[in-house]
Amino acid sequence: MIQMAVLKGDITKLEVDAIVNAANTSLLGGGGVDGAIHRAAGPELLPECRKLNGCETGQAKATRGYKLAASYVIHTAGPVWKGGNSGEPELLAACYRNSLKEAERLGLGSVAFPCISTGVYGYPSDKAAKIAVETVKASGASVESVVFCCFSDKDYDIYKSLL
Ligand code: AR6
Repeated sequence: MIQMAVLKGDITKLEVDAIVNAANTSLLGGGGVDGAIHRAAGPELLPECRKLNGCETGQAKATRGYKLAASYVIHTAGPVWKGGNSGEPELLAACYRNSLKEAERLGLGSVAFPCISTGVYGYPSDKAAKIAVETVKASGASVESVVFCCFSDKDYDIYKSLL
């Protein structure tokens, strides 16, 4: 069983094997947590991202972590919230599942997730958190521990109540 924990703070500071990036399908950087990860990893991250040729929504691709404490960054593109009837729940679940598959493929023990799609992409926090926790629980991935790294008090409280 995967150990799950929640904490509040900046995901770029975490000492885990991989942090997950809430990226976009270009994988060429952006704002929010994506911008913070690129800044903290340093300029070498972008050229490696370029070589990945983008990422479909719900898929995940890994790079090295460069200046981060984490050895790897697993980049995933979350769905844009369009009201919930455009496949958003399935795509968000796929982000968590495929990120864990990448971690498993790399033989990693610990992975930290941000609250994917809940910023610029507008996914309601409570709905997104339920999907995150349920998908990780049901994944059967060989990863030992997952940390949900929340940036806001609100997200932190939601995950606390779910775990
Ligand atoms: N550590 C942890 N969480 C963070 C951090 C941080 N340093 N910074 C922000 N968050 P968002 P999305 C939280 O908008 O909704 C980018 O431009 C934030 O509070 O970063 O998936 C990409 O390039 C929120 O809870 O990602 C895409 O174009 C969560 O991270 C687009 O945004 C996700 O917010 C993706 O949008």
